[in-house]
Formats: sequence, structure tokens, C-alpha cells
Amino acid sequence: MKNLSQKVSQAPKSKIRELFDLASERTDIISLGIGQPDFVTPQPAIQGNIDALNKNITTYAPTRGVPELLKLLEDKIYRVNGIKSNWKENLILTNGGSGAITLAYASLFNTGDELILSSPNFVSYYYCGVFFGVKVIEVERNIDFSPNIEKIKQAITDKTKAILINSPNNPTGYAFSRTELEELVDIVIENDLYLISDEVYENYLYDGLIQVSPASLDGMFERTITLNAMSKLYSATGFRLGYVVAKKEIIDLMSTYTTYTVAGTNHAAQYGFIEALKMDKSFFDEILKQFNERRLFVYNRLKEIGFDVVKPRGAFYIMPSVKNFGMTGSEFSKEIIKDKGVAIIPGEIFGSYSDYKLRISYAIELGKLKEAIDRIEDFIKKK
Ligand SMILES: Cc1ncc(COP(=O)(O)O)c(C=O)c1O
Repeated sequence: MKNLSQKVSQAPKSKIRELFDLASERTDIISLGIGQPDFVTPQPAIQGNIDALNKNITTYAPTRGVPELLKLLEDKIYRVNGIKSNWKENLILTNGGSGAITLAYASLFNTGDELILSSPNFVSYYYCGVFFGVKVIEVERNIDFSPNIEKIKQAITDKTKAILINSPNNPTGYAFSRTELEELVDIVIENDLYLISDEVYENYLYDGLIQVSPASLDGMFERTITLNAMSKLYSATGFRLGYVVAKKEIIDLMSTYTTYTVAGTNHAAQYGFIEALKMDKSFFDEILKQFNERRLFVYNRLKEIGFDVVKPRGAFYIMPSVKNFGMTGSEFSKEIIKDKGVAIIPGEIFGSYSDYKLRISYAIELGKLKEAIDRIEDFIKKK
């Protein structure tokens, strides 16, 4: 039979899924692989969805989303992110943050274009590049996971179309300072590039760090695709709702692509998102406090055990190195799930420069987290 799609075949099956399949066969597993928060979705979001279904809102939604939701997003984006937009032109709802990434690639790139990003980084950026014929250039992060601005400058060629940033970051936990962001923005403007800014973890910031959205900076709205989602803030990954803010020409292309591929997003779920956006944002204060407690606990314990580890500044991940222990991340991950029943994702799946790293998610209850770290300590002691 003839070959199936070479582009799609190039992407490996998700190693995260493989690990969870292994874990699902045992009852003693503690998973530090989770990419979603562990608190329950706020009730208004759930109720909004249920009410919409009870009103038979089961038809196609408008391609870009329900106007009431788009208006609320316009307001949120101005209040929280300082981005001035017009809901009629500059916003589109997407199938989660993932759908927003797909739309960013679909609307920006032509075959052969180059995209620069810092690695390790979120795995989809690379494979979306393969699907859309984009050459993804990975620039190694500095030791503390900050972006290496000099190397980013050196990676620019006449084919470079865009730079992609994700702050706060999955998997490293790094978050940009304002100065770093401004340096990067200068590069974007000087080289006439676009910037894709993935801000799905914008609420998970610690030590007084404040999120600065690049699209709010002078001259950047026209050049930036800002993407975000309901998933992490409202612990609602299953709602599959995200959004993009960008200039009209980009949103128009995204709208066309949406029409011919997914034909919109879940209609009833949009009413859940509406109710979520009406909530006072203080609902998140206590949650963030708990995440911060876990962050400090994991960081301190890993250091104590002897890991080479950087204190995360945002999101809910930490990325220690296992080089000290003479293993690759992949070897460590395979052995510890077998010996101690702890599921941890090896760094290598997050692109280059992470073969000797692990990604640990602390989006689990503190008691379980303590138990998992004790098991890791036991594992290391026996080595
Ligand atoms: C950096 C980043 N962007 C986008 C996504 C995708 O988000 P969603 O689950 O809303 O599709 C994730 C999910 O883990 C992520 O970590």
C-alpha cells in the first residue's frame, strides 16, 4: 500500500501517554507527570456549561466564538494584560491552548520559514513545525533556563519569520523578567519578525513576579500572536477552550482555517467560560498559595537530595538534572517507575538540551508529593 503521511509519521507517539499507560497497570504509582492542576473546576464554569446544554445550546457556535464571551475576553485582556483589542476583529476562540498553537502556525508560516525558540520547551511547538513545513530552530537556554538572547540573535537568518516564547514556561518553570522581554521585543522589531507568546500559565507566578504580555508593549500588537486558554487557570483542560489575540489580518486567516478544519469550538462550554470570566479573580489566591508551598518544598528537597536544580519562577513544573547520578533522564524515569512507582517524565521529550533532565510536575496534593520525593530519595540512596 502507498505511504501514509510522512509529516505526521515523523512525530513520535507521546512518551507521556506511554508512561501513563505503564502507570495505569499499577495501583501504587504516584504520578509527577501531570500537566493539569489538581483543584476542581470552579462551580460557575461547570454550571454555565450545564445551563447552556439545558437550553439546548447544542448547535454550531459562531466560528470565532459567542459575542458575549469575546466581549468579556476583550475586557480581561485589557485589564489583566494591558492589551487593547476589539472583540469584533482581534479575538478568536480555539480548541484549548493547543488549538491556538495550531492556528498561530497555520496563519503565519509558509513552507521553509524558520521559527526560533528556546529549548527545552513545550513539545507541540516542534511537531507543529513539522506539520506546517516550518524549520524550528532550538536555541539552548542559559543554565538558569533564561533565554540566551545573544544566541537567539545569532540564530536569525533571512528565513526567520518568528520567535516563540512561553512564559511562565513548561517544562522549565522559567518566567521572563520585564528586562528580558524588552530585549527580546527589540530583536523582534529590529528584524521585522512576529512573536508568538504562549501565556497559558500566566497566573502561576511566584516571588512577586508580574506577567508582562509583549503585545502590550509599544509597537508590538501588530507583531504578536498572544495565545491563552481556560485550561490551567480554571483547571479545565477538558473544556478544550483557548483563545488568540492578534491583529485583524491574522485573526481573519485563523477564522478561515477554523471554518475548514474544526468549524469552531464547543458551543455550550463557551457559556461555562463566560461564567468563569465573571468570577472574582481572588478565587485563585488560595490555590496559588498552595502551589507556592509545593514549589518551595520540592525545590528544597531536591536540592537536599543532591539534584542540580533551578528554583522555578512560574508554572507548576521543576526541571532537575540527573547528570550527578550518572543517568540520562530517560534511564532515571524508566528505573524509578519500576523500582519505586514514581512516574516522572524524562526531559528529552521537551526537545534538545534536556537528555539529562527530568520534568517534575508539582500539581499534586502535598502529602503525595512528600511521599514521591521520599521514594526518589530512597532510589538515589540505593544507587
Ligand atoms: C506551554 C503550553 N502551551 C499550551 C498547552 C496546551 O494547552 P491546552 O491543554 O489548553 O490545549 C500546554 C499544555 O500543557 C502547555 O504546557
